[in-house]
Amino acid sequence: MSYKVVQWATGSMGKTCLRAIIDHPGLELVGLFVYNPGKVGLDAGDIARREHTGVMATDNIEDILRLDADVVLHTAQIKAPYDHHNQDICRLLASGKNVISINGHSYPQYWGERYTRPLLEACRQGQSTLFGSGLNPGFITDKIATIATGVCLQLDHIEVTEVVECNVMQNPDYVFGMLGFGTACDRLNPNDPDWEPAQILNGMYCEVVAHLVGRLGFTLERIETDHVMHPASEDIEIAAGPISKGTVSHTNWRWHGIVGGKRLVTQSIHWIMETAHLDDPDYSIWTVRIKGLPGLNITIDMKNPEDHPFRTTPEQYGVAGSLLNAIPGVVAAAPGFRSLPFEDLYRAS
Ligand SMILES: NC(=O)c1ccc[n+]([C@@H]2O[C@H](COP(=O)([O-])OP(=O)(O)OC[C@H]3O[C@@H](n4cnc5c(N)ncnc54)[C@H](OP(=O)(O)O)[C@@H]3O)[C@@H](O)[C@H]2O)c1
Repeated sequence: MSYKVVQWATGSMGKTCLRAIIDHPGLELVGLFVYNPGKVGLDAGDIARREHTGVMATDNIEDILRLDADVVLHTAQIKAPYDHHNQDICRLLASGKNVISINGHSYPQYWGERYTRPLLEACRQGQSTLFGSGLNPGFITDKIATIATGVCLQLDHIEVTEVVECNVMQNPDYVFGMLGFGTACDRLNPNDPDWEPAQILNGMYCEVVAHLVGRLGFTLERIETDHVMHPASEDIEIAAGPISKGTVSHTNWRWHGIVGGKRLVTQSIHWIMETAHLDDPDYSIWTVRIKGLPGLNITIDMKNPEDHPFRTTPEQYGVAGSLLNAIPGVVAAAPGFRSLPFEDLYRAS
């Protein structure tokens, strides 16, 4: 069985996916969408550092809509407002293409009928499926933490912590605009839902928290945030530009899923330019801490093989793996949203 795939956007994540599609014997690259005008008309092989494919990059969605394709891997940069890409995604779905997104869409139902209606209508029209995947969202909470609760007779609290060094990120718009680094700490309220970085990240991670609570069989009362921004302890120079002492160098985004008046689920993300504000500088990318009967802790790190000759990070490969491996299930799924199932996880307490 071979699947016809469109790659949508060619940033770090998109290029890793593009190479993986080209290299995969069971996948056929049939289309490539880019935003950067300098990439339009280039062969996908040139963008991916591969042999020519005969597939030329386009920035015109009509070229993509015309294609016969099973699935689009949507890896654009996330933008505010959170539903920024939904119009394009709806058109792709309505044209009969399944869409796998790395920017949320893991549990769109969280936002209610007004948000989901156009997406579901597009899925109905195109008999297509929308699925959110990746590492986070997509893997650590959605899969690992959820499955780990399966040994607990009683659950008191589940905390998923992510720590990522962001100094290698190169795109200033993303690092300073979307993630909030370099902002004067005394001029921002990270818990103001209208602040753009909070708006975007609340969009993705409220879905993750709500989905976990729902899959565990609990009723979510609300999601609270207590995001904290830490100031740079000194002037820092990173790939995307300078961060002045006193401006944001470490963002700790925290969402709590409240059940029965208490915090049942906490999703905590540390994106850091320095380790000065971490409790433990010897950290893993992810830690899952479950308090309950029994309690358990899991730590996860990702590694490339020894002497791996390329700059692609294990996390970038991991995102691509999570998207590519989801293709058969998404193509086979019934039209609508594909969420990981609720019914196989039943919690008594
Ligand atoms: N789910 C997960 O686990 C996970 C993990 C990591 C990242 N992500 C998400 O992946 C997204 C992309 O990350 P990246 O590392 O590939 O970023 P990146 O390297 O900074 O690349 C930026 C991408 O944005 C595209 N772009 C340019 N202008 C745009 C516009 N106006 N609207 C939308 N996209 C535009 C670029 O298009 P061209 O193709 O023309 O260059 C390029 O593909 C991020 O927003 C992040 O939220 C998700």
